[in-house]
Amino acid sequence: MEVFRIRGGRKLEGAVTASGSKNAALPLFAASLLSSEESILENVPDLSDIRFMAEILLEMGAEVEKTGPTTWKINPSQIVPCAPYELVRKMRASVCLLGPLVGRLGKAEIPMPGGCVIGNRPIDLHIRAMQRMGAEVELKAGVVQVNAENLRGNSIFMGGRHGSTVTGTANAIMAAVLAPGKTTIDSAACEPEITDLCAMLRNMGANIEGIGSHMIEIEGVESLRGCRHRVIPDRIEAATYALAAAITGGEVCVRGGRLDHLGAFVNVMNACGVRIDAQSENEISVKTNEDGLRSLEAITLPYPGFPTDLQAQTCALACKAKGLSILTERVYPSRFMPVPELLRMGAEISLEGASSIIRGGTPLTGAPVMASDLRASAALILAGLAAEGETWVQRIYHLDRGYDAFEKKLQGLGAEVERLPESEMPSAFGAQLS
Ligand code: EPU
Repeated sequence: MEVFRIRGGRKLEGAVTASGSKNAALPLFAASLLSSEESILENVPDLSDIRFMAEILLEMGAEVEKTGPTTWKINPSQIVPCAPYELVRKMRASVCLLGPLVGRLGKAEIPMPGGCVIGNRPIDLHIRAMQRMGAEVELKAGVVQVNAENLRGNSIFMGGRHGSTVTGTANAIMAAVLAPGKTTIDSAACEPEITDLCAMLRNMGANIEGIGSHMIEIEGVESLRGCRHRVIPDRIEAATYALAAAITGGEVCVRGGRLDHLGAFVNVMNACGVRIDAQSENEISVKTNEDGLRSLEAITLPYPGFPTDLQAQTCALACKAKGLSILTERVYPSRFMPVPELLRMGAEISLEGASSIIRGGTPLTGAPVMASDLRASAALILAGLAAEGETWVQRIYHLDRGYDAFEKKLQGLGAEVERLPESEMPSAFGAQLS
């Protein structure tokens, strides 16, 4: 296993490029199954989650090939409707194969995605959407079995207790594009990743209206063609670099940072003393005010609200902002796993229900810490960049699921971050952690 060693205290400066979006690319791989023709995806990030998805499609019979550093070719002319458990269990996002299989083959067998450290992640809304379109759904031996010989359009409501579901909306759209008749999806998620999916599906010949809104209307078509599609930049990765600049008091340009995808985040940053401006449609500049960071408040909500996928990293920033900050989770009420690790670095944070209350401004000190999931890994690395001394982050395989070449990009901005074998960790730390 590998670890990150971070020597904190360097101001980050320069320019960095966000890769293609993980959460857009994963459903786009799935969407390619809706046609029997070849599709080409460009600007795909180099991530372990993408490699898992490619392996799953291969196991299902598709031809999948990486034809360039960020380009993948998928030929799904021969596929079976069953996703392999051994691979699916490693990646929750494989649930987004459900819609395309039901849409194209009228049948799907997907192992129920397992537990998830960020909280309870049921798929009841996905299943209800399939049922509304006439599918019969059964859970047998942990496998969701869907039969939809007579799939047809219908009205679907995608809202749940925690708002609209992102991959649930993607599944409903992907099944509906090939379902005869009209489907209306009310309370649809409208994340940029859903808009990107709709753009690709339109490119394939789908008939979709209301893209980017909470009410999507789809008129089913008989078949779809293959296409070439460029994945949008990763807004969460872009914002993570903005936070890295802010937490070190640096000044950074983020290519691939789109202000139109980051409204709620930019609002919170501006209020706490971080200036974020558009340099062009596809680039933002980030600079912290001379008088330092002020406390902040944010509530995570579905898009266009403040993204839950930035809550942990923003918590790290709040540790450096003088005064009391509050971060409230409305999407995953228990997504606070990095908090105990941040406490080890000297942070003052208390948890009250679905909120973290951060008393910021006290110095952070380097420590060995353990990443629990993707965004938690990023949060701990950001904290390490701002801490005095050395921080060692273990279990960075979580990071590799969703940040393409993270340490290299941070090094390019002047950070002292290194990926090392775990055996390089000082033995005193190892003993403490084992
Ligand atoms: N929910 C239900 N029932 C469902 C589906 C969801 O109650 O059938 C609840 C969930 O438990 C959660 C809320 O609805 O409380 C939102 O979940 P959603 O379905 O929107 O999440 P997701 O589609 O499984 C995607 C991203 C996540 C991101 C969330 C929220 C992908 C592959 N994953 O997950 O990304 O946190 O939307 O924005 O797109 C990450 O990248 O680190 C990550 C976890």
